[in-house]
Parts: sequence; C-alpha cells; structure tokens
Amino acid sequence: MCGIISYKGPQNCYPILLNGLKRLEYRGYDSAGIVSLYNNQLLQNKRVGKVQVLEKEILSSIKINSNIGIAHTRWATHGKPSNENAHPHLDNLEDIAIVHNGIIENYSSLKDFLLKKGFSFKSETDTEVIVQLISYFINSKNLDYVDAIYAALELVEGAFAIVILNKNFPDMLIGARKSSPLLLGIGKSEFFFSSDASAIIEHTNQIVYLEDHEMCIINGDTYEITDFRTRESLEKIVDTVHLEIEDIEKGTFDYFMHKEIHDQQRTIINTISGRIDNEHVLLNGLFPFWDNIVNSSKAYITACGTSWHSALIGKIFIERFAKIPIIVDYASEFRYNDSPIDSSTCVIAISQSGETADTLAAIKKSKELGATTVGICNVPGSSISRETHCGVFTRCGSEIGVASTKAFTAQIIILYLLALKLAQSKNSLSKKEIVQCLDFSSLSEKISKVLIKEKNIKEVALKYCNSSDFLYLGRGINFPIALEGALKLKEISYIHAEGYPAAEMKHGPIALVDKNMPTVFLVSKDKSYDKILSNIEEVKSRNGKIIAITDSDDEKLSKLCNDIILVPQSNEFVFGILSTIVLQLFAFFIAVEKGCDVDQPRNLAKSVTVE
Ligand code: F6R
Repeated sequence: MCGIISYKGPQNCYPILLNGLKRLEYRGYDSAGIVSLYNNQLLQNKRVGKVQVLEKEILSSIKINSNIGIAHTRWATHGKPSNENAHPHLDNLEDIAIVHNGIIENYSSLKDFLLKKGFSFKSETDTEVIVQLISYFINSKNLDYVDAIYAALELVEGAFAIVILNKNFPDMLIGARKSSPLLLGIGKSEFFFSSDASAIIEHTNQIVYLEDHEMCIINGDTYEITDFRTRESLEKIVDTVHLEIEDIEKGTFDYFMHKEIHDQQRTIINTISGRIDNEHVLLNGLFPFWDNIVNSSKAYITACGTSWHSALIGKIFIERFAKIPIIVDYASEFRYNDSPIDSSTCVIAISQSGETADTLAAIKKSKELGATTVGICNVPGSSISRETHCGVFTRCGSEIGVASTKAFTAQIIILYLLALKLAQSKNSLSKKEIVQCLDFSSLSEKISKVLIKEKNIKEVALKYCNSSDFLYLGRGINFPIALEGALKLKEISYIHAEGYPAAEMKHGPIALVDKNMPTVFLVSKDKSYDKILSNIEEVKSRNGKIIAITDSDDEKLSKLCNDIILVPQSNEFVFGILSTIVLQLFAFFIAVEKGCDVDQPRNLAKSVTVE
C-alpha cells in the first residue's frame, strides 16, 4: 500500500526521493508525488501512473536542488487515482505539505467543519483534511506549529503514518504514526522517514521504528520522539538493520517474482539453519513463552491471503504431530468474531510483511483478552513482530514481488518445525520419528531439480494461457497448496482459478468441467494416491483437460493426463514445497505471456495496511 519516503540533510533530496519511491513501488500504488522546499516555497510534482512518469517530469524541468523533501506512492482509497488525489497535499495557504498512509475514518465530519470555516479542498482524499486542520490550528487558533500538529492528531481518528513539511520551518520535518508503519533513518547529519527500510538502506542502516502514538520532530541536526497524546519525550533504541542491496534488486532476472521463486533454493536453507540440533528443534524466539504455548487449552492460527494458506498447512502438521487441535481463521474475521479467547489461549499470527492491518488487529485483540501471541513474520522490526509476545522470523530476505512466493515456503517450514517442537514437548512422536521428519538434507537439491525444469513448466503453462478458468485440486496438505496455486494464477494473470479439496469437486465444481476447463491436480505418491486417481478419472470422463504435478511416473497416471510435470520423489511435506514452486512458475509464465505486470499486479498492494 502507500509508501512514504522523506529526506532532510546536506544532499539534493530529489535523487534520494526518486530512488526511494522506486524501492517502494513493490508495495502497490497508482500515483506518486514529491514536495520539496525550493526558494522558500513548496515545490510540488504529482503524477498518476508510474514513478518513471514523475521522474521524467522532474528531470525535464529546471535543475532543482533542495535539501528537504517529502515523497509518496499512493494506493487509492478515498478518491480515484488522479494527479489531484496524489500526495503530497498542501493547505490552502501552501505553507504546509503532508504525505499520509492509512485512512482517516472521521474525515468527512472534519471536512464539513473545515468547509464551514472557509477552507476549500482540491482533492477527494481523507488526507487533505489533516493538513488543513493543522493550518486551521496555526492560523485561526494561533497555536505554534508543533502544537497545531498535536491538536490535529487529537481530532483525527483512524490509521495514519504522516510526514509534514512546513515552508516556514525549513529545518524541520515531522513524522507521526498510529497503526501504519513509519520509521526514522539516521545518517551522517541527515535524516529520513520511510515506510520501510528498503527505501533508505543505501544511505543508512540506523533505524528507529516509531510505535503507535509516536511523533518524531527532526529539527536541524537533532531529533526528538514524543508521545503525541501526552506530548512527553520518549527514549528510543536505534536499531541496526541487516538488509542486503542484492536482496532488493532483480539481479539477472527480469522480474522480482521470477528471482524470488529461484531464491527458494537458498532461502529454505536460511529458514532452517540453526534451528535443528540433531533431533531437537530450536525456535529460540519462542523460549520465554514456551510453557504457555505448549500448555494452552486452545490454539488459533490467524492470517490473510497466502499466509492463511500456510496456516492451513500448519494446522495439519500441528494436529498430526503434536495432537493439539488448531482453529484457523482469516484475521479479518477473527478480529471481529466472538472466539472464546482467554489467558489459556495461544494465537499464532502469520504475516510476511508483519504490517497487515487485519492480522495486527487480531493480535491486539487476542492480547487484550489475555492470550499468548506468537508471530511468524519475515520482516524484522515490523509491527506484528513487535506486537506479539514472541515469534520466529522466516528469514527469506526481502520479498518485493507483490505475489508472495518464497515467504510461503519459509512459513510452512517454520510451521512444520513448530509442529515437531510441540510434538517433542508433548512426547507425541518418538525420537526416531522426529529425526526422520527433520531430514531436509536433499531439499535444496530437489528444488534445484524443479527449477532446472522451468522450460518444461513454461511449455505446459503456455498451452493453457488462453483458458479463462482453472480448477486446482489436491488432498491433505495439497489442498492448501492448490488454494495457493489458484491464488497465484488469479492475482498475477487475472485468470479465474479456484482451489478445492479434490473429493469436494463432486459436490459442485464438477459442473464447471468441460473441454475448455483445465484442472491442475496435485498428485503425491502417498496414501491418497488411488483416491486422487479416481478424481482424475471423473474429470477425464467429462472431457476436462488435466495437468498433473506429481512425483509418480506411473503409466496409468500419464495416460489419464494431458500434461504431467514430474518432480523428484519426496515425502508429503517436501512434495508440497516442490509442487508449490511448480505452481508459482506455472502462474508466472502464463502472466508474462499475457503481458501482465507480474511484479505489481493491478489493484494489489504488497503490504495491506488498511482494513
Ligand atoms: C498473495 C499475497 C497476499 C498476502 C496477504 C497477507 O500472493 O501476497 O495474499 O499473503 O496480503 O500479507 P502478509 O503475509 O504480509 O500479512
């Protein structure tokens, strides 16, 4: 979703802000803008479309040099994507400029109030009311600048991360957050505000993560962080962020998604390493709350989208290995429903970004009700990783492609390890069984064998790229994998696809099957093999096209299918990882063939920071 980058320091802000905006593109956006202070005036450039459009406009104008500026990528919520609705927004006097992520829920009543006071509005956004409100407090109520911001923040309701620039205070940049991410970057005599570290990592790795209700006032060479409710100063820790530039660049690939699919051969090793010691699983981040987790009377896993699919796999393994019943719920539902949560409940939240608004709200609610909360996140320093009592990082590096790939395989590995660690504590599996389950020795090699076959996967994918609907079917853990495969295809190629448990097909979806409808079957050579063959026969006898992803080279299967993608023989869990990678590549090649914007699919945002 929207991205913020701001700069104050000795350098020209434009290259820094434009580069930062490009780094934020992955979050999803429809317009971009920059305001800087130039010749004592606020200089504004805003454009609907890609950052490159804005960059072209800026580079074609007179050579601008400014040491302070704020910039934004907007993902429309209030008001369509347009130049007027793009951020930054200015007050009527054009003294103050603001960028904002989040939603101001009471903007309509604030707008009515300001209209009555004679203010006029240029945009349809909720953001513009904040800057006009600050102006109102300065000019009608004679508050000084900082007090005017405090007064405005007392009135606005909802979620926000904001950065404000005032032409009358050329040495100041002010940022504040509530339920939307914002961090302060500290360089050599220079400061940055950003939605995430990737936008500023070329300049500094010294970061202060702002928490809810915190405001940071940069003034000259110093900064102060306050609680904007009490206006008291706060002591904050400066963190060193470990983020590699290669991780946020495409390298030799044309698309981030393609790179990140390939990354998995390496990232799964990062996810696992240091977490297995002979027959022991070490998830040290959980240690302080382990007794609460093991002894909890109820356990939930909550997440959204792809992370929710991981949760379904986590449920299967935790129930199987540790015999603990698990309820999986969408975070957007869980946050409002009446699940019986109390101090004996454990709530596990899964999130790649660690910023998903619904998942964060589900965690906050669970904590309020006394539950022990566990985060499985990819981004260190993210809101969910800080809000949960304890957690485990997936350690798969920055995921820039909007469609989640390597985060999914990392999440399911962590959940699998968690299931085994719980089994250890519960004595529900023997040592021998645990050692067998922990054998990942050939995983990376098997992934490489799948990646080497991508040409073959592409050939199969291209045969079906003109189909308008797909079914994805699997049993056991292959059902959530089917859901994930269908989601990948949907979100990047805009082709309708649905995942089902294979046997559920008879209860409705089979009505869709005809000669035009491809069905992707996940066929692992396990106890459900014969049953899934029967499901394939059912589709075949209705002239449906069948694509099987399998580790079985059985002739009977190949006769039934139009296309087979063979992966190395594996146990059920490893088959899940390998077939996920095939499905990611399958969706990727179809989307590229269709000319879709694979890394930034329409309407989607990487980090869904609004409800
Ligand atoms: C799909 C996808 C989304 C996210 C969802 C949750 O490819 O990326 O469905 O999985 O928005 O995001 P996180 O995991 O960041 O909470």
